[in-house]
Amino acid sequence: MNVVILAAGQGKRMRSALPKVLHPLGGQPLLAHVIAAARSLAPARICVVYGHGGDAVPQAFAGQGLAFARQAEQLGTAHAVQQALPHLDRAQPVLVLYGDVPLTRPSTLERMRLTDERQVKLLTVELADPTGYGRVLRNTRGAVTGVVEHKDANERQRAISEVNTGILCVPGPLLGPWLADIDNDNAQGEYYLPDVIRLAVADRVPVLTERPDEIWETLGVNDKAQLAQLERVHQFEQARALLAAGVTLSDPSRIDIRGALSCGSDVSIDVGCVFEGSVKLADGVSVGPHCVIRDTTLGAGTRVEAFSHLDGASVGARARIGPYARLRPEAALADEVHIGNFVEVKASTLGLRSKANHLAYVGDSTVGRDVNIGAGTITCNYDGANKHRTEIGDEVHIGSDVQLVAPVKVGRGSTVGAGTTVWQDVPEGGLVLNPKQQQHRTGWQRPKKKAR
Ligand code: UD1
Ligand code: MG
Repeated sequence: MNVVILAAGQGKRMRSALPKVLHPLGGQPLLAHVIAAARSLAPARICVVYGHGGDAVPQAFAGQGLAFARQAEQLGTAHAVQQALPHLDRAQPVLVLYGDVPLTRPSTLERMRLTDERQVKLLTVELADPTGYGRVLRNTRGAVTGVVEHKDANERQRAISEVNTGILCVPGPLLGPWLADIDNDNAQGEYYLPDVIRLAVADRVPVLTERPDEIWETLGVNDKAQLAQLERVHQFEQARALLAAGVTLSDPSRIDIRGALSCGSDVSIDVGCVFEGSVKLADGVSVGPHCVIRDTTLGAGTRVEAFSHLDGASVGARARIGPYARLRPEAALADEVHIGNFVEVKASTLGLRSKANHLAYVGDSTVGRDVNIGAGTITCNYDGANKHRTEIGDEVHIGSDVQLVAPVKVGRGSTVGAGTTVWQDVPEGGLVLNPKQQQHRTGWQRPKKKAR
């Protein structure tokens, strides 16, 4: 089949310079969700009809095998579909979706496939308050005879609770002629796509209706309140899937997944965590409250404590991260590494069992196994123009408040005394210190506060 996605609307009520369909839901533009659902049907063609926002929409989805049709003026949904016709395989059915209706499930779209060359399918729902929607008209035998827009409907028609979701599937060869037959002689002066239902009935083409599993699958985004509402639906659905897969969530309504989170068995996630991009948590991982984890993998049994921020990191098994730790891109930590509070690691590898437990910056470094990095240690990786690497051998012990001025190497098994500035390579074994003297003055008078 073909899929046409209507996305030309401006979305005035979003009160934003960004075209409506580019607003993110679950970290992805609304339109990306619709495209993903469309792709699940393996259609021959997907054509996005765009208009407002210039080329921002085609640019955001360039190189993804999509066709784009520009609708310069928004003259109505039928006119919008007409713009897509040249891009379609007209021998095959055409499914129409909406760039601002992001949460339709693939299983629902699957039901929209036509089972006959002469057939139209319309997705409908029953709403307690159908105000604003097109109403589905049926005859005494229950067969669909048409759709009437709210603004064109009389009192009796407005009492109908079955509404058109807008999603419909039409045989390709019939679509062009029907669209050409639609006029704009109605309350809104628009070319209405649902008018194809009336034309199908006139041509004795059966119109079948399908239902989604959930009403929210058909809800659109017109303003920020609706966007926030569907964001919560989306997040809760993801949380439900995690629970069903055996993940422990302290509160399924307090987790946000903006991308893909994969979890092994016996993973537990505390409240207020945000996962972005692709995050993989192996068996037995536990994530404490209020962590932000982006594009990161954590090995089996690793624990991340509260308020940690992990971005582009890979961490081995049985490691301990946080609380208040920051791992930045290309932080690669081996098994059983400990990174404690207010420690930042960037573009560095740390070997088995190495530890930096308090207040340190480890950047552009290669750290061996069983290394201890004391509190207040800084790798001075930046000379104001270029970044340089620090190499720390296995079993090195670095005391507190040490500066390692890169490029520099600290040989295996050596000890760096507290408060040392290391600017030359340190040989293996032994102790490195900067000469300094401790002075002691007797009779020292502390300054006193002046009397008022
Ligand atoms: C449409 C249906 C209505 C249905 C409702 C469900 C029509 C005439 N009516 O009404 O039966 O109950 O959806 O939400 O189709 N668009 C374009 N180009 C246009 C016009 C619209 O791309 O020229 C896009 C809009 O950006 C929007 C979608 O099509 O995403 C729907 O258009 P809108 O005018 O909002 O239709 P509704 O009045 O909601
Ligand atoms: Mg609308």
